[in-house]
Amino acid sequence: MIRIYVIMTILCLYQTYTSFGQDCPSKQELQSTLRQVHKLLSAHEASYLQNLRSLRKKLNLLQSSTARQATKTGNGTCPKLEVPNNGRKLGKVLAVGHEVHFLCEPGYELVGSETRVCQESLTWSGQQPICRNINECASTPCLNGGSCVDEVNRFLCTCAKGWTGPTCQTPIPTFFTIVTNVSTSSPTSSPYSSSSSPSSLPSSPFMHPSRCTQFLGSTRCTCEAGFTISGRDSNLCIDIDECELFHNGQAGRLCVHNCVNTPGGYRCTCPPGYNLTRDSRNCKDIDECETRQHNCTRDQLCVNTYGGFQCVRVECPRIRNATYVKTSPVRCERNPCPVDNRACAQAPNSITFHYLSVVSNLSAPRVLFRVSAARVLGDTLRFGLLGARGRRHFTVQRSGRQTGQLLLVSPVQGPATLEAEVEMSELERRAMLGRYVTKVTLFVSPYSF
Ligand SMILES: *[C@@H]1O[C@H](CO)[C@@H](O)[C@H](O)[C@H]1NC(C)=O
Ligand SMILES: *[C@@H]1O[C@H](CO)[C@@H](O)[C@H](O)[C@H]1NC(C)=O
Ligand SMILES: *[C@@H]1O[C@H](CO)[C@@H](O)[C@H](O)[C@H]1NC(C)=O
Ligand SMILES: *[C@@H]1O[C@H](CO)[C@@H](O)[C@H](O)[C@H]1NC(C)=O
Ligand SMILES: *[C@@H]1O[C@H](CO)[C@@H](O)[C@H](O)[C@H]1NC(C)=O
Ligand SMILES: *[C@@H]1O[C@H](CO)[C@@H](O)[C@H](O)[C@H]1NC(C)=O
Repeated sequence: MIRIYVIMTILCLYQTYTSFGQDCPSKQELQSTLRQVHKLLSAHEASYLQNLRSLRKKLNLLQSSTARQATKTGNGTCPKLEVPNNGRKLGKVLAVGHEVHFLCEPGYELVGSETRVCQESLTWSGQQPICRNINECASTPCLNGGSCVDEVNRFLCTCAKGWTGPTCQTPIPTFFTIVTNVSTSSPTSSPYSSSSSPSSLPSSPFMHPSRCTQFLGSTRCTCEAGFTISGRDSNLCIDIDECELFHNGQAGRLCVHNCVNTPGGYRCTCPPGYNLTRDSRNCKDIDECETRQHNCTRDQLCVNTYGGFQCVRVECPRIRNATYVKTSPVRCERNPCPVDNRACAQAPNSITFHYLSVVSNLSAPRVLFRVSAARVLGDTLRFGLLGARGRRHFTVQRSGRQTGQLLLVSPVQGPATLEAEVEMSELERRAMLGRYVTKVTLFVSPYSF
């Protein structure tokens, strides 16, 4: 009857909410009904408990009488059993045929018999159990060389240098000791070992108290993105040093040049002469010549290099018996020679200046540039390196009937400035018709980007 009444009431409540409740009692009526139901339930509860108690009494009576009978007929009891340390014994009757059960406290495992029976021989079956501490260290939970200390129902990791966290899973950023300014009262104590209350926690942009919540008796502490719980002190969040953490990452370095750790993040920086690219990771050379950020004089040429610029002055050579005239900012041509002046005739017909900028450690071999004869008068063209300078790094090859190329043969580590002279000579029946020289200057930047 009561059950039906309750269901009716609840149905009406539902209807009231959905505003179809024409036949339902008013709010006050409902509440008084509910109170009555409550009372009824309480009364039922009381009588139910009373019944249980009387049932238990009867059961106990029955048990003791049968126990007495057992002692009479079985004539004897088994010896008293010990309660295992950190465990419990269930069952007090020591008469033949009776069982005793054993339990262990959390964190302990039972070794021996869980149940023992008093046998006819008045001895207990099985073995006396013990409660053994479960070894939480057995699964080697401490990472990165940390050592494990087994405690009841838990383990503690003592981390190797440079690691922190409950299982030593978090690397300790190297800056930590530098940035931290621990209170002057205990200048030698590390913030890790101090188990201070949150109010006295050291604070810096790289370190702040964690946010903890209690749930079902356990505490859960969390940190903002980019921060992690500091070691055993779950009250403290420390910044993750992404620069350190991903220094030799599989996916490449975070930054092409320099990584700066920031509270909760990081940023990349570039050396002078470079701007950070849109991806915030790479560095892009600034063309100082193009953007007029150079200070070269009017009679100088501005040559953009990776990370800077060079001011060069193109001057025509002074060779005995030959004179030159500048025909372009980077080209000198020999004036016509007097008849029978061999020294003049053997001097280069033209000298061209070539400036190249490369990054450090450029892979080699690599073609740096090609020279071609615009029109050929003679029957033979020869290409070669002039002088000993640059032979260590360069070589010249023919790459076509009228073309030769300058190759870089080995990587060069910057910063460096290398020079080479490439000569193209034209012959007709082994007689020299003309010599054309290209002076190459290679500016190698200190960086490989
Ligand atoms: C068991 O019964 C025998 C006789 O049936 C008696 O001699 C003995 O003392 C009894 N033992 C105990 C422990 O009551
Ligand atoms: C540490 O903090 C104190 C004041 O709290 C300040 O005087 C001192 O300069 C700080 N030291 C460093 C290294 O920042
Ligand atoms: C490089 O960055 C600076 C400052 O961020 C800016 O003023 C300049 O225009 C940038 N230069 C180039 C070439 O992007
Ligand atoms: C040009 O500027 C550089 C620095 O950018 C300086 O070292 C150099 O002396 C300057 N040269 C002249 C001619 O002012
Ligand atoms: C250089 O020129 C001078 C005259 O200007 C001439 O006497 C001399 O023979 C020339 N030297 C050579 C090697 O041709
Ligand atoms: C030069 O480049 C090679 C291959 O790319 C690389 O293995 C080497 O580490 C680099 N050396 C330097 C000094 O950057």
